[in-house]
Amino acid sequence: MMRRYSLSIVCGLAWLWSCHAVSAPNMGDVVSDAAFELATDCPPGFALNTGQCELRSLYQLYASLQDGGVGGLKTGLPTYRDGFTPQEIDLGRYLFFDPLLSADNTISCATCHQPDKGFADGLGRSVGMGGAELPRSAPSLWNVAFQDSFFWDARAKTLEEQMQGPLYDAHEMGGDPVSLLSKLNASEPYRQLFAQTWPQSYEAGEDIQLDHIYRALAAFQASLVSLNSRYDQYAHGFADALNEQEKEGMNIFRSFVARCAECHTPPLFTNRQLAVIGTPEPDGMPFDPGAGPVLGEDSLRGAFKIPSLRNIDQTAPYMHSGRFETLRDAAEFYNLGRGHAVPEGEELKIHWHVWEPNLTDYEIDRLVDFMKTLTDESFKPKTPQRLPSGLPLAHDKTLATARATTTGDN
Ligand code: HEC
Ligand code: HEC
Repeated sequence: MMRRYSLSIVCGLAWLWSCHAVSAPNMGDVVSDAAFELATDCPPGFALNTGQCELRSLYQLYASLQDGGVGGLKTGLPTYRDGFTPQEIDLGRYLFFDPLLSADNTISCATCHQPDKGFADGLGRSVGMGGAELPRSAPSLWNVAFQDSFFWDARAKTLEEQMQGPLYDAHEMGGDPVSLLSKLNASEPYRQLFAQTWPQSYEAGEDIQLDHIYRALAAFQASLVSLNSRYDQYAHGFADALNEQEKEGMNIFRSFVARCAECHTPPLFTNRQLAVIGTPEPDGMPFDPGAGPVLGEDSLRGAFKIPSLRNIDQTAPYMHSGRFETLRDAAEFYNLGRGHAVPEGEELKIHWHVWEPNLTDYEIDRLVDFMKTLTDESFKPKTPQRLPSGLPLAHDKTLATARATTTGDN
């Protein structure tokens, strides 16, 4: 599988445009031989400061969440991760889309976290290597930089810890650290990209380090920021950004009758806690005890992490099990009676904010209108046109075929 990449060395030294000239359309193999240049600028929404990308958001002007009151519009952001270099973020982008990271080269992170599906996959339950169906649905990755625990049951504390789940799970990407490293080290383009990112660590041609793979993937994911929806424009003071029905929906969402904002707290639309709300499993699926067994806490049996509702219109079906096809079904769940879907024989400690709000059909429709204003994909990163491994993109069949006919920048 190893190829010679003499051309890439030439391009590495030359100006970018001359490499583009080499990778003219329809030149077949030549396209995958041109060198990869990592970004030297931060993605939109970040500013470069002493070599690192710092988040810039109007929400940084506001006081902390605690001071702002639950559901307040001008509330500050919780703790978050930034401070990665442009190169770390861009290298992470290639790794994220590259099926080389799976044992049989068929699945990338993007297979289950697709940019055009809100970084989820549109499935009730994700499908891993060899067609294995996983027990839960893939969450969106938008705004993961603001999360302090990962997975539906909050079992991972950092992005780096989280990604070792899918990378090494036999049903997801099926790899192991040793073979992951040997595959990446066998790729001359990747060796060059890691050296571009951390020149001091690789100046003598050292092997790629596992921690650097994790850091780059974390950097890319932390760049997926979505804080400029029509709702945000309204929150920052542009009264016309929402129409009357959407404003009605927002008021219902924040009201003490519906109580949505108690858990789906602005500006992230999650308070980052776990809650037992008692959603049903799909027919035939066993009860999912969620965080209970993970944390060894009986009171958390059936608890799941409160998901952010950002870009929620893009990520149907909903809940850990993908049980609800539409946003309306998800909203209506809260109206059908506390604990109505808890299986017989299960004694769940349903959260006290889940009650019986007796919302009318009209009010549920307005809640849906409001949730749809939380869409902002303006900082959606570019999908690479080609990958350092030379493999086709795995997450979207139409893109894989498009690659055969188009070239252009990466
Ligand atoms: C086969 C499908 C699949 C693949 C491949 C996959 N994921 Fe996931 N991902 C999921 C599912 C399903 C969950 C939720 C699992 C759970 O909660 O038990 C998840 C959860 C996550 C979360 C937690 C998000 C949150 O809000 O808690 C992150 C972050 C994540 N994945 C990143 C990645 C990265 C990075 C890769 C590649 C290294 C990757 N995923 C590969 C399906 C996948
Ligand atoms: C007690 C906290 C709590 C309250 C109050 C609450 N939610 Fe939730 N919400 C959750 C949890 C936890 C989940 C995930 C449950 C699961 O996966 O089984 C969730 C999931 C959702 C989802 C699906 C998200 C996804 O990514 O699949 C939507 C939509 C939603 N809630 C809307 C609402 C609306 C609308 C209200 C008000 C009527 C509301 N929530 C009130 C905790 C809460």
